[in-house]
Amino acid sequence: MAAEDAKRLPTIDDLDVGDGRVLVRCDLNVPLEEGHITDDMRVRASVPTLKALLDRGARLAVCSHLGRPKGKVVDELRLAPVGERLAELLDREVTAVTDVTGPEARGACESAAGVVLLENLRFDRREEEDDPEFAAELAALADAYVNDAFGSSHRAHASVVGVPRHLPSAAGYLLAEEVDKLERVLHDPAHPFVAVLGGAKVSDKLGVIDHLIERVDTICVGGAMAFTLLVARGTDVGRSLVEHDRVEEVRAVLDRAESAGIEVMLPVDVVAAEAGEEGAAHEEVVLEDIGDRLGVDIGPGTGKRFADVVRGARTVVWNGPMGIFEIDAFSKGTLAVAEAIAEATRNGAYTVVGGGDSAAAMKKLGKDDEVSHVSTGGGASLELLEGKELPGIAALRRGRN
Ligand code: 3PG
Repeated sequence: MAAEDAKRLPTIDDLDVGDGRVLVRCDLNVPLEEGHITDDMRVRASVPTLKALLDRGARLAVCSHLGRPKGKVVDELRLAPVGERLAELLDREVTAVTDVTGPEARGACESAAGVVLLENLRFDRREEEDDPEFAAELAALADAYVNDAFGSSHRAHASVVGVPRHLPSAAGYLLAEEVDKLERVLHDPAHPFVAVLGGAKVSDKLGVIDHLIERVDTICVGGAMAFTLLVARGTDVGRSLVEHDRVEEVRAVLDRAESAGIEVMLPVDVVAAEAGEEGAAHEEVVLEDIGDRLGVDIGPGTGKRFADVVRGARTVVWNGPMGIFEIDAFSKGTLAVAEAIAEATRNGAYTVVGGGDSAAAMKKLGKDDEVSHVSTGGGASLELLEGKELPGIAALRRGRN
């Protein structure tokens, strides 16, 4: 076998499923409020692979985690509401069982036609421990395995990396498409290439900044993470959130960017508030006037500068909000970026948005279809952009030996 073939990601088109049972690992980790799904993007994104397998005559055992129950059964995190939505979207019965690999799951996988939905994988602590026995129990429910859980493929958990050691395995369409679309920005980006990064913690994004330095022309940084960068540049940021233990590391990354001729654009004005809460007194100020307050959004001047750069780009990657986006008064900067991304897409740029809040901002503007690719993964898309191979993808490439 040629080296490239050995590395190629097998997809469901390479899998002989017959009328056997296929264990499909999806990422159905959706936001729920009082038992109702408030955003079903991840459920909808799982449908093409499930339909394709059903059309080929396969029977399915769908599995996913939901939230972080830490090995305990938490009634609010049962997958039943997700099963109802899945049944609507697939237009067929979904048998949602109340255990993961116990007698009910085994019985249903043995006898039920069509689709069985296993209970929340993380109700069993062995899932996150990548316990070999748990992986073997999951594998015993099926004849083949498909990973379509892009959003979970950075987790080395039993259902992601353990099961492919036991069964013929392949990537679903969603996983294959996500890898393809995200890797495209790393391998052959059209220039100017602009990255817009936000969110609370710089520690989550330092690896991405570091990896992108060699590829992008400009990096725009907003959100609370920008304050650690501003401190590294010697700017006073009032009571804004700063990761002091990361300042040295950030300074080194900024120096590297400067030597590479990459522009790192930071906020010049902010929305300064007494507290990061709904109803807190706030005003738009230049950074020098932040005083004893904290920055909760980029200001209009920064929003315009970022939007101008994005509009002129040929490739854009955006991950993370520019402020406390859930609070309307602090969401303007994030919406300004979302608007500019839609415009860049209309002008022919290749645009990729990752992370729940950035995708939600596109949706809030009704412009989620004006992006080349909205990723279903938060942490997973960041790790790909960091240049890391995701454990779930490595497991599929490695196969059973
Ligand atoms: C996500 O929401 O990013 C994925 O479902 C992974 O969830 P986790 O961060 O709890 O592993």
